[in-house]
Amino acid sequence: MGVVISGLGVGIPQQVLTNLDLEKLVDTSDEWIRTRTGIRERRIAAEGESTSDFALAASRQAIAAAGLLPTDIDLIIVATITNDMPWPALACQLQDRLAARMVPSFDVSAGCTGFIYSLWVANQAIRAGGASNVLVVGADTLSRITDWEDRATCVLFGDGAGAAVLSRSENEEDFLSFRLGSDGSGAPLLCLPAGGSRQPTSHETVDARLHYVKMNGAEVFKFAVRIMAEAAVQVMEMAGVKPEDVACFIPHQANSRIIEAAAKRVGISMDKVFVNVDRYGNTSAASIPIALYEAEHEGRIKPGDIVVLVGFGAGLTWGASVLRWPGNNG
Ligand code: ACO
Repeated sequence: MGVVISGLGVGIPQQVLTNLDLEKLVDTSDEWIRTRTGIRERRIAAEGESTSDFALAASRQAIAAAGLLPTDIDLIIVATITNDMPWPALACQLQDRLAARMVPSFDVSAGCTGFIYSLWVANQAIRAGGASNVLVVGADTLSRITDWEDRATCVLFGDGAGAAVLSRSENEEDFLSFRLGSDGSGAPLLCLPAGGSRQPTSHETVDARLHYVKMNGAEVFKFAVRIMAEAAVQVMEMAGVKPEDVACFIPHQANSRIIEAAAKRVGISMDKVFVNVDRYGNTSAASIPIALYEAEHEGRIKPGDIVVLVGFGAGLTWGASVLRWPGNNG
């Protein structure tokens, strides 16, 4: 018995924010943003839209692509750090909005690594016999917690969602390996300081702009390159896969320079690396599933192909997975 990705979907806002638009908001330039990050434009939620709207659209598409109905889903996991409201879990709202059965539904908080963490949980749940079809969603609306006066962060992020359905399969070798980790000592490098139990929301926290993403960009950059390379090398070794065996390498889409440096360290040539950060920016937990969806739709992934997913994020967290794309016994 194995586990397979049986369907993928995306939910992406219509509204586009270009680098030229950002030039009007903060002291920045299209040239700076493109050369330092690779980002040209990003999608931003319109007024009234929220994370669950994108998660719902992605989920419906993924469930239909799997040839299933929402009532066939027996576990819902949503990776997010920008729930519609602090609690209850976004996954529970999704259960209701999908008209799914009253199945277990919960959120995973692992920043941009959340989708890979959630894949791991779903994979384990199916292998343990606890579920047959699991909906895994990565969804974030970072524009709502972005300080639009801070040029060092506001140019980086975009909104959206991606979803996958994981299903029980006959093929033993669909997911070949996972490697996850965390280092909480790095929490201050990337966090949202206020609004929790340590610094509850007050006029002072709002005035001090503590309800926005705070990031030490240079430190996160160094960490990201090192950890994405290490995690990818380790997960490929665990799966017995060499760089030349990899058909498609899908890194978290934070910054094209981070992606290029990590791929180089792993020994993967850029023609195998999927990049869409230029069009979406960093969509946090949505970045890997959106990239996976686009890679498949563009024909970059075919049945039997070896695919490597690797990400890093707030926590600090990291995760990587090697999988064999379904539809061919390899
Ligand atoms: N436009 C113009 N100038 C800018 C901008 C901007 N948007 N932002 C910063 N600068 C300036 C800085 O003020 C600095 O000026 P100074 O030298 O006069 O002080 C100069 O540009 C260089 O700044 P650096 O921070 O050294 O620029 P760097 O090349 O490191 O790029 C960046 C900054 C893009 C943020 C990079 O550090 C990065 O990508 N870090 C990783 C970010 C990331 O991946 N975060 C993940 C979030 S994941 C999650 O879980 C949400």
